[in-house]
Amino acid sequence: MATWSAPGKVFLFGEHAVVYGKPGLAMAIQPRVQVTVRKARHPARPRSSYIQECFRETGVRGTVYVRSQLPSASGLGSSAAVTVATLSAINEEFEKGYTREQVADLAFSIEKKVQHGLASPTDTYVTSFGGLVLIRGPERLRLPPRNIPLVVGNSRVSHNTGKMVERVAREREVRPAMVNAVLEAIEAVTEEAVGALQNPPELGRLMNINHALLEAIGVGHPALSRLVLASRAAGAYGAKITGAGGGGCMIALAPKRARGRVAGAMESCDAQAIVTTIDTQGARREAHA
Ligand code: MEV
Repeated sequence: MATWSAPGKVFLFGEHAVVYGKPGLAMAIQPRVQVTVRKARHPARPRSSYIQECFRETGVRGTVYVRSQLPSASGLGSSAAVTVATLSAINEEFEKGYTREQVADLAFSIEKKVQHGLASPTDTYVTSFGGLVLIRGPERLRLPPRNIPLVVGNSRVSHNTGKMVERVAREREVRPAMVNAVLEAIEAVTEEAVGALQNPPELGRLMNINHALLEAIGVGHPALSRLVLASRAAGAYGAKITGAGGGGCMIALAPKRARGRVAGAMESCDAQAIVTTIDTQGARREAHA
């Protein structure tokens, strides 16, 4: 029997712009998905198609038990975390000898297959390695870890990443001059943010600008706007959509004294609030009780 866990992720800056080759900054966050795999000759078929693919791709059979602290389908990378934790547990249980890079690559190809071609290599990379990751075109650069405490607000409004990516593409066709200018502005915000990681008030300001730019390209949602405004009113340095938008999650950066208030403000807007910070470990082996 082998148990592994993998963390969730948020985009701090640059979502959507990364689709057009602009930089993006993502961070692994502490809520985790934990997966136990045990060899079995005649296991029941796993319910998750991600887990089914993990067994198919590795050519082994086993039972699986999943525990998750991450809300699914909310943009926090839960499918990538499940896939990476499952592959890591299979790796140990069946002594496959995969490296962490190989697990991340295989997880990405599984996500692509299950999601019919649309998957983010960012999610599988960040959940495998943890920490802060700067995406620049095809490169994934691991930055020195920083403690960036966040309050994540899950709007519970369901959304579809593919549709939101398409929406931006359509908007760009209709209004190329405007949308390209916004994507360039997002790039400038992300570049400045990389230099401001130790300055929370400045980082918060940059989050506010990034949020406005995401709204400008059509990925806002009234529920997310409410959460962003409520967080700022409760004392956050800044707040923004995280991930695809149109529903899903937002994040707020707040001073320690205001974190509880920000979480309370989100809950009074019917959202689920998760107070969290950076995860620096990525996929990790869990001891059995
Ligand atoms: C979704 O979490 C982030 C997007 O930029 C898509 C991607 O990077 O794959 C919208």
